[in-house]
Amino acid sequence: MIKLSQRLQAIANFVPEGAKVADIGTDHGFLPCYLAQSGQAELVIACDVNAQPLSLAQKNIADYNVSDKVSTRLGNGLAVLKPGEVDTVTIAGMGGALMIDILDASPNVVDRLKRIVLQPNVGAEAVRVWAEKNRWQIVAEDLVKENDIFSVIIVLEQGRSDRFMSATDLYLGPKLLAEHHPLLGLYISEEWEKAQYILAQLAQSDSEESRKKEKQLRQKWEDINGVIKCKLGVTLS
Ligand SMILES: C[S@@+](CC[C@H](N)C(=O)[O-])C[C@H]1O[C@@H](n2cnc3c(N)ncnc32)[C@H](O)[C@@H]1O
Repeated sequence: MIKLSQRLQAIANFVPEGAKVADIGTDHGFLPCYLAQSGQAELVIACDVNAQPLSLAQKNIADYNVSDKVSTRLGNGLAVLKPGEVDTVTIAGMGGALMIDILDASPNVVDRLKRIVLQPNVGAEAVRVWAEKNRWQIVAEDLVKENDIFSVIIVLEQGRSDRFMSATDLYLGPKLLAEHHPLLGLYISEEWEKAQYILAQLAQSDSEESRKKEKQLRQKWEDINGVIKCKLGVTLS
């Protein structure tokens, strides 16, 4: 049985039993191979915009003996799919902005999905904003740290949640916060370190724009500090 990385396994965990799945930007195709081999998915379409990664996926699909369940498509984002052909889409290992472009480019495919599982390398906040704006609710989130890199996983289902997300929810993840994810404290400390570096850079500039950004970033972290103190009992130094 194919052994996934912790990150890919965390994504696979959110694919419903018996799902018809498209993995967009599949590259090596490990996730589709696992979903087929484990019997978790009924069928998987492994998609990539580039021929070279797709041929690697095709080799792995053959090697893992899952060609009966996994097919491949070459092309941009969800444009390779017919509306209703799959009920679940996974997109992992690219930036949030690109994920949003991919979702916005194919509304007819997106409208027919039941679940979208996203693992943005950067820009998780923008993905959450997109979800709220487009009437997708965050039903689950996970956080994985592997090889010193944090990965955030966001699971969306159709519908609007009963309350709007605060700025801190959008930045840190409403489910991660509400469920006190065990890695969240460490994740916040690393994000705070990055913010402090940016604040130090901004402080060296005399421009009006830098002052504005500095003020916004300080305000954002004051809000975050207030929320995490209250919800997690953590205070940033
Ligand atoms: C870093 S890899 C991630 C592979 C795998 N999803 C993972 O998380 O391990 C990103 C892949 O996305 C593909 N890609 C980038 N833009 C794409 C698009 N618009 N549509 C489909 N695939 C895309 C790239 O060719 C590349 O194979």
